[in-house]
Amino acid sequence: MPTYRFNVNGKPVAVDAPADTPLLWVLRERLGLTGPKYGCGVGACRACTSHLDGKEFQPCTVAVSECNGRKITTIEGLADGDELHPVQQAWLDEDVAQCGFCQPGQIMAAAALLKTTKTPTDAEIDAIENVCRCGTYCRIRDAIKRASAAM
Ligand code: FES
Ligand code: FES
Repeated sequence: MPTYRFNVNGKPVAVDAPADTPLLWVLRERLGLTGPKYGCGVGACRACTSHLDGKEFQPCTVAVSECNGRKITTIEGLADGDELHPVQQAWLDEDVAQCGFCQPGQIMAAAALLKTTKTPTDAEIDAIENVCRCGTYCRIRDAIKRASAAM
C-alpha cells in the first residue's frame, strides 16, 4: 500500500492507504478527527467541509492520493491554540448551533469566505451551499456578519 504524506492542522502525517481512499475516511477513521462530518459522501451536503491549502473543500470527494504534500485544516485546527477563531467566537455569541451536526462544516465554509471576502453581502453569504437540516441559516448569517466586523 502506498504511503501519503501531508500536513493536517500543522502536523506532518504519513498514512498508508489505497490511492482512492476518500480523505474524509482518513481524517475520521485513521486520524480521529471527527469534526468533519459524514453526511452524503458525494460533495452535496458539505458537512465535511474543511480547508485544503487554505481553500474550502469537501474531503469526501478528494482521494488521499491527491493530498500528498498538501496542507489540510479541519475544524480541530481552526483555533489559534486556546484562542478561538473569530468565526467560532461569533458562532458562540450568536448561539448558532441547534443539533450541531452541520456546524463544523458551516464554520469552515464561513472562515474560507471571510478570507477572500472581508465584508460579504447577504447574497454572498447565502451562496454558501452547506445544508442545515435544523434551519439555522438566519443565525449563520448574523454570525458571519459579527465575525466580519471583528476581523
Ligand atoms: S459528506 Fe456531504 S459533502 Fe462531504
Ligand atoms: S444545526 Fe442541525 S443540521 Fe445544522
